[in-house]
Amino acid sequence: MSKFTLAIVAGASAAVGAATTAALYGFSRPKRPEESHTITTTSTTISTPGATRTSAPPPAPMVILRDDPSVPAIPPVDPSGVFQYGFPGPVSDLRSACSLTSAFDRARRNPHWVAEHITPASLLIRNGDRRHSYFAEDINIPEKFRAKLTDYARSGYDRGHQVPAADAKWSQEAMDSTFALSNMCPQVGEGFNRDYWAHFEDFCRRLTSFYPSVRVVTGPLYLPKREADGKWRVSYEVIGHPPNVAVPTHFYKVIFAEDGKMGGNVSLGAFVLPNAVIANDKPLQDFEVPVEAVERASGLEFAGLLPPARRKRLCQEINCSVIVKEYAERQRTMMTPPPQKGGAPPSTSLTQRQ
Ligand SMILES: *[C@@H]1O[C@H](CO)[C@@H](O)[C@H](O)[C@H]1NC(C)=O
Ligand SMILES: *[C@@H]1O[C@H](CO)[C@@H](O)[C@H](O)[C@H]1NC(C)=O
Repeated sequence: MSKFTLAIVAGASAAVGAATTAALYGFSRPKRPEESHTITTTSTTISTPGATRTSAPPPAPMVILRDDPSVPAIPPVDPSGVFQYGFPGPVSDLRSACSLTSAFDRARRNPHWVAEHITPASLLIRNGDRRHSYFAEDINIPEKFRAKLTDYARSGYDRGHQVPAADAKWSQEAMDSTFALSNMCPQVGEGFNRDYWAHFEDFCRRLTSFYPSVRVVTGPLYLPKREADGKWRVSYEVIGHPPNVAVPTHFYKVIFAEDGKMGGNVSLGAFVLPNAVIANDKPLQDFEVPVEAVERASGLEFAGLLPPARRKRLCQEINCSVIVKEYAERQRTMMTPPPQKGGAPPSTSLTQRQ
């Protein structure tokens, strides 16, 4: 069962708009990516009123179990004595604002993940207007680790909201808190943030027509890509002078569509999109990946407490597609069951649970 592992990597064609490849690699034989199943796989953004943060305390000194009797009960050295000078980290700058909860990656000056919650009722309230919101540096992050407005200026990239402003119209404060740079990643603007990614965000909002409660976790990825010499490398641009903010190669969304019942079923969907121009006619399902693939690539865990018996596959329940058409048409097509070809779920065929 544990002979296989699932990895997502940047597609060979990344330069041309690019795909992601979710590949099943065998440990027991030479790696043959060609047998892998290939899955071809934006918004913009500060003031953070009402935000609260917590940092994890430094860990307690580790207790080491010794089975070597020659190791004395009181060791001759004290490695964790380094804490007298300070705890090195990592610190994830957990942020809890009214419209989002997030963790920050200080090395790359991007969020690790940003979580939101939308409901039919929350999307109906219109008290916030993005014309009154301003992009702002997140002053709760130490200055040397912060993303700066000047890093984005003339970088060629949009300040791409991870939690979209349009999901936080229920109050001006909620909307303002999505404009913190800790909710932003550098995103390709034309053809991505302002187009396909925006349609994808709209897809998430439309889910509230079918589920009473929808949670979305969004964030960046830095995926390895196979280069001409056959080796895998992670390569990404860093913007700012001096270089400060990493430009992700990809973005993920993990969607939890809840049925609204206590202990009820949750329809899970995970998607990975390249930070590149994507044609509007590209099917959204081409970007669907198993949740586990996002976990392995990000080092995060999203649904560890959700038992398999309560899990459903989102794209088996509703038609997973972005639509650039008008509203009424969208609502009509979404309820149509997905075509039979969608019956081979990438999540179960690729995921080898351990
Ligand atoms: C969850 O889904 C299963 C079928 O997959 C169904 O039998 C069960 O009734 C559902 N649970 C709830 C609370 O709706
Ligand atoms: C799913 O929605 C898309 C976009 O509206 C539509 O083109 C497609 O026909 C729909 N699929 C099904 C099976 O209804």
